[in-house]
Amino acid sequence: MEESSETMTTSASKPALTARPARREDAAAITEIYNQGIEDRIATFETEPRSVADIEPWFDSAHAFVSVVDASGEVVGYAVAHPYTDRCCYRGIGEFSVYVRRSQRGRGVGQVAMAALIEAARNDGLWKLTSRIFPENRASLSLMTRMGFDEIGVHRNHGKLEGVWKDCVIVERLIPENID
Ligand SMILES: CC(C)(COP(=O)(O)OP(=O)(O)OC[C@H]1O[C@@H](n2cnc3c(N)ncnc32)[C@H](O)[C@@H]1OP(=O)(O)O)[C@@H](O)C(=O)NCCC(=O)NCCS
Repeated sequence: MEESSETMTTSASKPALTARPARREDAAAITEIYNQGIEDRIATFETEPRSVADIEPWFDSAHAFVSVVDASGEVVGYAVAHPYTDRCCYRGIGEFSVYVRRSQRGRGVGQVAMAALIEAARNDGLWKLTSRIFPENRASLSLMTRMGFDEIGVHRNHGKLEGVWKDCVIVERLIPENID
């Protein structure tokens, strides 16, 4: 990540919510928030809780990684973009995810996280962000529409979650400043 500023001003900033580059000391909170999303079974095929040690390598490998903190400094959400593949031709594509602490959902945290992630991805030279979302995850699909993502299509029976085949909606957002 190239962001050097402590905080990032985004057009989606809300009072009392601040987005900034994720820091290593956020790892425990990020792990907790991710594990809530895993438990909810609406966001990911993953079913095993993660440890802090699983999250720490993200600080070295992510294209862009942002935390959202509230007025008291607590991490209430994060968004991260990992390299899409290791193929050189796709080096400008980030595969992202966004997770908000369960008690804080529906209050604009996701919007602040995604605005900051898009800005961080732009600064990192990415030309596209993409993700796959379960069709029943209305909150995530609404958030992506709000943040300028297009729904490209649907992967049918893309994987099994606890024995049940799931479709995935493919979303993407181009970053025009990095397409010349
Ligand atoms: C999906 C998620 C990140 C959204 O973050 P959030 O902070 O709750 O969302 P926001 O408050 O910023 O709302 C963003 C948009 O989603 C809509 N939205 C939020 N919750 C919603 C819900 N339960 N149902 C339908 N729409 C919803 C909001 O109305 C808003 O749309 P608008 O701006 O057009 O009004 C959050 O709910 C979450 O962490 N869910 C579990 C993990 C997950 O699903 N992650 C995404 C995997 S790709």
